[in-house]
Order: sequence, then C-alpha cells, then structure tokens
Amino acid sequence: MSLFISFEGVEGSGKTTQIHLLADHLKSLGRSCVVTREPGGCPIADQIRHILLHPASRGLVPMAELLLYAAARAQHVEEIIKPALSAGHIVLCDRYLDATLAYQGYGRGLDLDLIEQLNLLAAGTVRPHATILLDLPCRQGLQRARQRNSHSEGPDEDRFEQESLRFHQRVQDGYLQLARKESERFHVVSAEGEPQDIARRIRQVVDGLLLPRRLP
Ligand code: TMP
Repeated sequence: MSLFISFEGVEGSGKTTQIHLLADHLKSLGRSCVVTREPGGCPIADQIRHILLHPASRGLVPMAELLLYAAARAQHVEEIIKPALSAGHIVLCDRYLDATLAYQGYGRGLDLDLIEQLNLLAAGTVRPHATILLDLPCRQGLQRARQRNSHSEGPDEDRFEQESLRFHQRVQDGYLQLARKESERFHVVSAEGEPQDIARRIRQVVDGLLLPRRLP
C-alpha cells in the first residue's frame, strides 16, 4: 500500500538527516521506500534547483521564483512521485507544496490563493497523506545551516540562507499556521535535541500511520 509523506521545516531543521533515518527504519520493516526532494528529485528539476538556489540568482523576482518552483514540481510529480506511488512504494519527500505556501506565500508575500492554484496545476491531486513539520526556532536552524554550509559545497545553494531573520520568521510562522489549518495531515515534531531522539519521535508518528494499513 503506497503512502506519501512530506517533510517540512525551516532551514537547518534536520529534515534530510531525519528522512534518511526514517527510510532505514522503514526498510528494516521490509517496506520499499523512495526518498526524494524538492526542488529537484530528477535531472530536469535538479537543473531548475540550481537556478533557484544559487547565490548568483539573487535578482530573481518573486513571481519568476514561484513559477520555477511550480515547473520543477510538475516535472518531479510526473517523473518520480506518481510512478513511485503507483508501484506501491512509500514516498518520503523533502519539502513539497507547503514549502511554496510558507516561503513564497508567507515569506515573500505572494498571494496564497494564487499559490494554491499553481500547486494544483503542478501537482494535481498528488497530495501527501501526512506531513511532518520539524519545528525549530528559526534562529537556531539558520545557525545550523550556516555551519553546515561552511564545511561543505553548500555555498552554491545558500541563496535562501542569506535572507533576513525576519523572512525566516515569517516562513516559520507560516508553517505553524498551515499546520493549525490542516491539523489532521500535519504532525508537528520538535526538532530540538539529539538526532536519534528526533528520529524516535518521527518513527512513532509514522508507525501509527502504517498501523491501519497492516489490516487486510
Ligand atoms: P532545502 O534546503 O530544504 O533543500 O530547500 C531548498 C530551499 O528552497 C529552501 O531554502 C526552501 C526553498 N523552497 C522554496 O522557497 N519554495 C519551495 O516550494 C520549495 C520546495 C523550497
């Protein structure tokens, strides 16, 4: 039985680490799992990711940015997510539709209804069954992300980390608002503490999601 889980959170909230820990857990239970991310997840969308996140793209206007996220998503949904779900895999996606509402909507101030319409155009009815929101004060997350990037080839992708703390605060507040609006789908998990402790909190949520699916 397929299951689609998206992961959201501010910069440095540890999504990528947690997704991989969860994938290992699911595989140990004998579940087949596809790990993917947005923007990106397939070669064409990865090229769009490069344009979106490279510091040289600082002149990108908010509407062009929004349309590029939608374009990357349309490709990713057709090429990766739909086939994986049809094949019965569990899909774990690092960011999805809510990221556009949080960053381009609450963060940049673009119209939320317009973003909903574009999300519908790009993703159709391919919606996550559940969304894990890793909750971390954005000042703490930014510190983590900047440390990580100073030790890796991250600077190629740090256009968003260069945004002001106020921008990231709006994104964080936006995510929490979205979680309140759709409290059935969203699971807000504290991202403070050791990775293994956070992984345990996430496993509890996901094991709960899998339970009814074990029934015939
Ligand atoms: P990542 O660092 O989690 O891989 O995400 C890449 C960046 O892209 C991150 O700063 C959030 C941003 N983003 C948006 O602004 N809108 C979107 O729709 C998505 C998917 C990501």
